[in-house]
Amino acid sequence: MALLDETVWDHVRQGPVAAVLAASALGVAATVLGVGWLTQPDSLSRGFAPVQPIPFSHRDHAGSMAMPCLFCHSGAARSRSAGIPDADVCMGCHRVTKTDSPAIIKLKEASDAGTPIAWKRVHSLPDHVFFDHRPHVNAGVACQTCHGPIQKMTTVRQHMSLRMSNCLGCHRNPKPALPPDSTIAKAPENCNACHR
Ligand code: HEC
Ligand code: HEC
Ligand code: HEC
Ligand code: HEC
Ligand code: HEC
Repeated sequence: MALLDETVWDHVRQGPVAAVLAASALGVAATVLGVGWLTQPDSLSRGFAPVQPIPFSHRDHAGSMAMPCLFCHSGAARSRSAGIPDADVCMGCHRVTKTDSPAIIKLKEASDAGTPIAWKRVHSLPDHVFFDHRPHVNAGVACQTCHGPIQKMTTVRQHMSLRMSNCLGCHRNPKPALPPDSTIAKAPENCNACHR
């Protein structure tokens, strides 16, 4: 019996089973590394789409209802930040629209209590970078050039890489992003334009 056991065990160690065991160990290692790589936090990269506290849909409001972007993000034309509207802006309609919806009840509670809604930030540059919406919006660069087809998104998803190389790519040759009659040939590439 002992002899047989040993023989069988030898066979297992050297035979195809060993190969399968070794392969699956590699497989596990590769999976661990792969998942680690794919899920590493990189807030600069495309595709980031956090779940929001209230399921606000741009596809409904900016798409189907065709509300202008600046109705809610008026800051984009007159300040550094585009800004997220207060619940009061929403309540202009939602005091009468969809009042039985759990999401709208939550919205009304926040508006009545004056507590800001904890929207999760989608796009976020590191603190050492200076960005200003104004020169871009006023030069005629469309929101969608950087933010993608927001009016088709139920959940906002980061469309553009926020890497320096991406900013510079357009600054070197902004023409394709500008209206045909624009007189701008180049946007700044000097370091202190974006690092102040
Ligand atoms: C009815 C108001 C409303 C309109 C109209 C609207 N938005 Fe928004 N937008 C919001 C709210 C509220 C948020 C925060 C929740 C979210 O991310 O979905 C937001 C978030 C965003 C964000 C992500 C902000 C971040 O955290 O990085 C972008 C980009 C954006 N909107 C662009 C647009 C563009 C472009 C349009 C026009 C096509 C538009 N929005 C129209 C209300 C609006
Ligand atoms: C101009 C009017 C108007 C404004 C302003 C507006 N909404 Fe709406 N909203 C609507 C209408 C109309 C619907 C219904 C759309 C449908 O069912 O097709 C809706 C639907 C919704 C829904 C889905 C409700 C459900 O359960 O079906 C949510 C959530 C919502 N809005 C949140 C917001 C938030 C947050 C804001 C402010 C940032 C906002 N809305 C601003 C008109 C508006
Ligand atoms: C040249 C590219 C570009 C264009 C054009 C642009 N954005 Fe942005 N947007 C950005 C970047 C980059 C950020 C992140 C800024 C940061 O983290 O400081 C941002 C952030 C935002 C935010 C969230 C934070 C904030 O600024 O309050 C909203 C909302 C937004 N953009 C809406 C818009 C709308 C609406 C338009 C068009 C009117 C627009 N953007 C045009 C690049 C752009
Ligand atoms: C799609 C094209 C495009 C992209 C992408 C873009 N920019 Fe710009 N940027 C422009 C244009 C056009 C101007 C305006 C140039 C002018 O008015 O002469 C500008 C101007 C600026 C200015 C103003 C400089 C000054 O001194 O007035 C800053 C700062 C800036 N961009 C930062 C950034 C940063 C940071 C990013 C990346 C997160 C970025 N931009 C991405 C096209 C772009
Ligand atoms: C058009 C805007 C723009 C200009 C011009 C620009 N940068 Fe940047 N820079 C960025 C952005 C956006 C980031 C953050 C994203 C990233 O790290 O790619 C960044 C990041 C950096 C970092 C940090 C990289 C890291 O890994 O953390 C350094 C260092 C830097 N820039 C140096 C420079 C120097 C030197 C110049 C001039 C030759 C310059 N930048 C010009 C936009 C710009």
